Amino acid sequence: MANQIPEEVIEEVRKSNDIVDVVGEYVQLKKQGRNYFGLCPFHGENTPSFSVTQEKQIFHCFGCGKGGNVVTFIMEMESFSFVEAIKHLASRSGTQLPELGGEKESSLSQDTQNILSAYEWLTKLYHHLLRFTRDGKEGYNYLKSRGISDTAIDEFQLGFAPTAKSFTAEFLKKKGFNQALSVKAGLLSLQNDNSVTDRFRGRVIFPIRNHLGKTIAFGGRSISGGEPKYLNSAESELFHKGKILYNFDLAKKHIRKENEVILFEGYMDVITAYQAGINNVIATLGTALSEYQAKLLNRYVDTVVICYDGDKAGLEATYKAANLLRNVGCQVKIANMQDDLDPDSFIKAHGGKAFKNEVLNTSDTYVSFYMRYLKKDYNLSIEGDRINYIEKVIKELALIDSSVEREYYLQELHKEYNISMESLTQEVEIQRNKQGQQPKKDNPDKNRNTNRGLSYRSNKKLLPAFQNAERKLLSYMLHNPLIAEKVQEEMGAGFNIEAHQIIATHLYAFYEEGHLSDISLFIEKLSDSELQKLVTEIAMYPVLEEISDKEINDYIRIIQEHRNDYVSIQTLKEQQKLAEQQKDPLKAAQIAMQIIEIKKQLKRTN
Ligand code: UTP
Ligand code: MN
Repeated sequence: MANQIPEEVIEEVRKSNDIVDVVGEYVQLKKQGRNYFGLCPFHGENTPSFSVTQEKQIFHCFGCGKGGNVVTFIMEMESFSFVEAIKHLASRSGTQLPELGGEKESSLSQDTQNILSAYEWLTKLYHHLLRFTRDGKEGYNYLKSRGISDTAIDEFQLGFAPTAKSFTAEFLKKKGFNQALSVKAGLLSLQNDNSVTDRFRGRVIFPIRNHLGKTIAFGGRSISGGEPKYLNSAESELFHKGKILYNFDLAKKHIRKENEVILFEGYMDVITAYQAGINNVIATLGTALSEYQAKLLNRYVDTVVICYDGDKAGLEATYKAANLLRNVGCQVKIANMQDDLDPDSFIKAHGGKAFKNEVLNTSDTYVSFYMRYLKKDYNLSIEGDRINYIEKVIKELALIDSSVEREYYLQELHKEYNISMESLTQEVEIQRNKQGQQPKKDNPDKNRNTNRGLSYRSNKKLLPAFQNAERKLLSYMLHNPLIAEKVQEEMGAGFNIEAHQIIATHLYAFYEEGHLSDISLFIEKLSDSELQKLVTEIAMYPVLEEISDKEINDYIRIIQEHRNDYVSIQTLKEQQKLAEQQKDPLKAAQIAMQIIEIKKQLKRTN
C-alpha cells in the first residue's frame, strides 16, 4: 500500500500497541486458555465468538470471519485509512512519527473534517473565554456556584459562549469556515431573513466528545433561566444523540477496570461524580437510552448501574432503560436515588463517599426495583389491588431460574404482605409450569458469566481431510519457518486449494526476506483482505509446540495423494472419453469402474 511512513516505523507502532490492549478498548475480553474472547464488534451476537491471541497478535471472529492484526482492527473499527490507523496507534503509544508530507489522507469527507476543525477551535475558544476573560466571567461564576472545580472545568473543557449576536459567526468567518456548513454543523442558526446568528448565546458550553475525544457537538446550558435549559447542537452526520454517550472517552478505562458503568441522565451528574472521584460515569444526551447505546455498553461491561433522577419521570426512564439493557444481555442494577434528588445534588449535599456508600453500593437488583416500580400502579391498602400486585410480582419471580434467588424475594413478599411461604411458593411453581420452556427473559445475563468465552461455535462446516491437512500444515508453517522450509522443499506451493497456494507462496517469500515467524506482520503484507481473513483463521488453529517430522510428512502425503488422485481422475476421464469416441464400450466401462474405485477411496480418506 502506498504510504510515506517508513516500514521500520510501522513495525515499531505495531509492536508498541499490544492487540489485547487495543481491542480491549472496544470489547470486554476474557481470557480462556491462551486466547481472549469477547463479543464481536463487527456483527451482533450474544455469545462471544470473537477471539484475540496475544502471542500471535491477531484477532479472528469465528462468527463473521473477520480477522487481522492491530492495524486492520483499528481500520475496520474506526473506518480509518491505513495511514490514519497508524497515526492513531502511534499517538496511543506515544511513538514518534516522521512529518508526513503531501496532502492529508483521511477517510472523512472534506466537510466533515472542516466541521470537526470548527468544533475544535470553538471548544478552545469558549474554554479560554470562560477561564481567563471578562466575557466569560458569568459562565465561570455560574460553574463555581455549582461547585465545579477548575480541574474539572479544564478536564471537561467547559466553556462559555458570549451573549453577543454574532460572536461565533465572526470568529468562524475569520477562520475561513463556510457559513452554510457552520449552520449545518449546528453552530450558527439561520434566521427567517436568511441572516445567521450564533446558536449558542450566553450559555455555559459542555463539549460533547466522541469516543476518540474529539468534540462533535455542544450542549449549552442557559444561566439566566432562559429556555430551553439545555440547548444541544442539531443532529448532523457527525452527531447522533442516540449513538453517543457523554464522557465515554474519559470513562472508558475506568469502566473496564471496574467492569461496571454508572449511567446518568445529565451532564452535570457526570461532571460532579467525576470530580468526586467516581470515574466510570457516562450519560445519555437528553434522550432515552437507545438500543444502539445499550448494545455498545454490553460490549464493554457486564453490569450497568442506572442512576437516574429520583422523581417519577426518572423512575419510568429507569424501567425502560433497565429492560432495554437486560434484553441486550447486560446485568442491571438500580442505584438507590431518593425522591426528588438527582445525583448531582446528592453529591453536592453529601459528598462522593456518601454517594458511593448510600446510593451506589445499596443498588437494587432488577427484581427488587421492579417490585418497587410496580407499586405505583396499585393502592396496596386495598386488598384487590394488593392481590393483583402480588400476582404480577410472582409472574416476574417465576422467570428467575435460581431457586435460592426466588426464595429470597418470596421471603420479602411473605414478610411484607403476611402471606404464607407455602402458598407463595406454590403460586410461583404454577406460574413456572405455565411459562414452561419459554425462553426466559433474563437468560442472556444469567448465562453471561458462565457462557462468555466458553462457548464459541465455529460456523464452519467440516472440511474434507485434504483441506484440513492443508490448513494445519499452513498453520505450522506460519508459526515456524523451519517447517515452511521443509514443506517448500518437499512440495513447493503444491497445495490443492488455490488460496492456500497463494498464501504459501507469500509465506516463502516472507521468510526469504529474512523475517522470523510474525503472523501479524505477515498479515499486514498481504494486502488482500480475503487472504488476511483466511490467514487469521488458519493461524488460530491450535498448534503443538513440538511436532514430529512424521506428522508433517503425513499432512504432506494427504495433500499429495489428493492431488495425485485428482490428477488420475482427470487422466482417466480423458481416456474414458477417448474409448467412447473409439466405440470401445467395454474399455470405457472398465475405466469408469476405475474412476468409481478411486472416488470411493477418496471418500474413505476424506
Ligand atoms: P435535567 O433537567 O435533569 O438536567 O436534564 P440536569 O442534569 O439536572 O441539569 P442541571 O443540574 O439543571 O444543570 C438531564 C439532561 O437532559 C438534557 C441534558 O442533556 C441534561 O443533561 N436536557 C435537559 C436537554 O437536552 N434539554 C433541556 O432543556 C433539558
Ligand atoms: Mn441537575
